[in-house]
Amino acid sequence: MCQYCGCQAITEIERLTREHDDVVTMIGDVRAARDRGDVAGVAAVARRMALVLGPHTAVEEQALFPPLADEFPDHVANLVSEHRLIEAVLGEAGERIPADPTWPDRLSAALDMLREHILAEQDGVFPAALSRLGTDEWEAVQAVRDRVTPDPGDRPDEPDRVSRRPA
Ligand SMILES: [Fe+2]
Ligand SMILES: [Fe+2]
Repeated sequence: MCQYCGCQAITEIERLTREHDDVVTMIGDVRAARDRGDVAGVAAVARRMALVLGPHTAVEEQALFPPLADEFPDHVANLVSEHRLIEAVLGEAGERIPADPTWPDRLSAALDMLREHILAEQDGVFPAALSRLGTDEWEAVQAVRDRVTPDPGDRPDEPDRVSRRPA
């Protein structure tokens, strides 16, 4: 771990922001699959999105949000409840293509909400975190990230994941 100079905070926020960007791209992929009438394709994107959002949400809820909850209790509670809603609708595609004919519409509504959720985090939560969290709190963010990041052996597309971590 480097001496605290703010780089750790920037690194963590950049990663969360990059994941948001990936999710927004996937929201577009869902829309394209729906436009083709490809429910299997929608479900496949939903599963990919859940893989990104699992660790992402854990970092937010277990380390980034708690230091902000006293000051912004309603905002944090709302973001957490939105996480549960998104997880639930994505989770319906976890094992198989959902048979419920209302699922694509419910997914689209949830993804509209997720876009707003992402904006709220990037315009509100992330700047607030950068101005309020201290060294120990950023170390806690990184510790959660390290704990929830899949083992590199499970992610052959990112073989150098471990070597990129700060010593
Ligand atoms: Fe979130
Ligand atoms: Fe987020």
